[in-house]
Amino acid sequence: METTENNGRASRLGGADLFDLALIKKHDKAGPRYTSYPTAPMFHDGIGSAVYAETLKKVALDDAPLSLYIHIPFCNTVCYYCGCNKIVTKQYGRAAPYLELLFKEIDAVADLVGNARPVTQLHFGGGTPTFLNDEQIRALMTKLRERFHLVADDLAEYSIEMDPRECTPATVKTLREVGFNRMSMGVQDFDPLVQKAVNRIQSKDVTLSVLKDARREGFKSMNIDLMYGLPHQTVETFDATLNQIIAFNPDRIALFNYAHLPEMFMPQRRIDESAMPSAQEKLNILEHSINKLIDAGYVFIGMDHFAKPTDELTLAQQEGKLYRNFQGYSTQADCDLIGLGLTSIGYVGGCFFQNHKEMDVYADSITAHGLAVFRGYVLSPEDHLRRAVIMRLMCAFALDFKQIEREFDIEFKTHFADALLDLKAMAEDGLLNLSAHGLEVLPAGRLMIRNVAMVFDEHLREQRKASNFSKVL
Ligand SMILES: C[S@@+](CC[C@H](N)C(=O)[O-])C[C@H]1O[C@@H](n2cnc3c(N)ncnc32)[C@H](O)[C@@H]1O
Ligand code: SF4
Repeated sequence: METTENNGRASRLGGADLFDLALIKKHDKAGPRYTSYPTAPMFHDGIGSAVYAETLKKVALDDAPLSLYIHIPFCNTVCYYCGCNKIVTKQYGRAAPYLELLFKEIDAVADLVGNARPVTQLHFGGGTPTFLNDEQIRALMTKLRERFHLVADDLAEYSIEMDPRECTPATVKTLREVGFNRMSMGVQDFDPLVQKAVNRIQSKDVTLSVLKDARREGFKSMNIDLMYGLPHQTVETFDATLNQIIAFNPDRIALFNYAHLPEMFMPQRRIDESAMPSAQEKLNILEHSINKLIDAGYVFIGMDHFAKPTDELTLAQQEGKLYRNFQGYSTQADCDLIGLGLTSIGYVGGCFFQNHKEMDVYADSITAHGLAVFRGYVLSPEDHLRRAVIMRLMCAFALDFKQIEREFDIEFKTHFADALLDLKAMAEDGLLNLSAHGLEVLPAGRLMIRNVAMVFDEHLREQRKASNFSKVL
């Protein structure tokens, strides 16, 4: 059992405190994951590269830190479950022309935003960033250092998503040498039947050897992604995977609920739906996994994420200094985020900007004028207020009404009268405590944190009509 503190309140949380089947069944509503607010379906094509260029120029003189996200879309095989923005190809030659485009985009963005602002956070995501060879990774980092002010890596969070099947010891060494200090790797499940059904064959040995290499090279925080809801998974089979993962002792574990949206993601049509676990079996797997991870010493951070008590995510949460961005939870304060590459999303000067999703359109746009934004969103003052409320809930499981009132010059009870009615019903069900001064999400409500957040999402009603969200649990 683990001791956690939240906003100074200490509590001992076990799996049984978090998992309340009756509450989950009642409150399990489809909803967003709130890596941003407003969420991506609100973005519109009234915002393009011209607005982006103006905004970059405007924020050039700010002295707050910057965050960079670089998207490498390629993967050499397809995992049938995958819902990420990727291009599956075995033609490694496609990386070089893509890098050329990225370099052009880096130049165009840096010409506008300058290099005075310190970059304290950098993330390579995908796809599979290690599709690039070591030389290409070095060239890309050199280019970023030439055009941006990347601070020393012991003061920053430089992370990379990678596929252990594609990573030699030499690559791990290269990654550390060029400054990466956090690594996240996909596993999902070690069961051979599950791996075959989702076309992701990855041995335990391969995974463990990358972990060992990374530790030897001095990576600070290692994350492993797992997924439940995949074909042929049962509590027993997943238990075997968990045993193995716990023995590997990663600093963080992400346990994702498989989002099955075959109408959106073509490869998911190759998943045999009849072999997928029932809703009840999925809940059993989730309950078992939570109990097991907490018994093994992990702390539930929120939204699919577990971390060691000594990991910086846990420590940041205890100190009320946890944040959330497109990559999930982060210890870096909310700041401007520059997205680079196909499909990437940025947040600059209070606006979201997303790049084109089709390679040829992205390439034409970058070649023509260096930027490739096709849609975005300018936050209104009301959006900023709601964004702050939702992010605080997702990160701290609590809200101090007075603090929000001071920050945004509103009267909480009047401004959020509708939301408070919904929250009252949740409080009666035991999801949270509601007082005149604030709210605290109770352990049994924490798995449903996005349901609590949804109460404050004024765009949700319209969005839900138009799009598909995965079930919360
Ligand atoms: C970009 S991938 C990880 C890096 C690398 N490409 C790999 O697969 O090892 C990011 C993670 O998203 C999660 N993911 C992908 N598709 C998903 C889906 N349909 N539902 C839930 N999680 C998903 C997986 O856990 C995966 O590890
Ligand atoms: S899970 Fe990773 S490797 Fe597999 S298709 Fe998706 S992005 Fe590529």
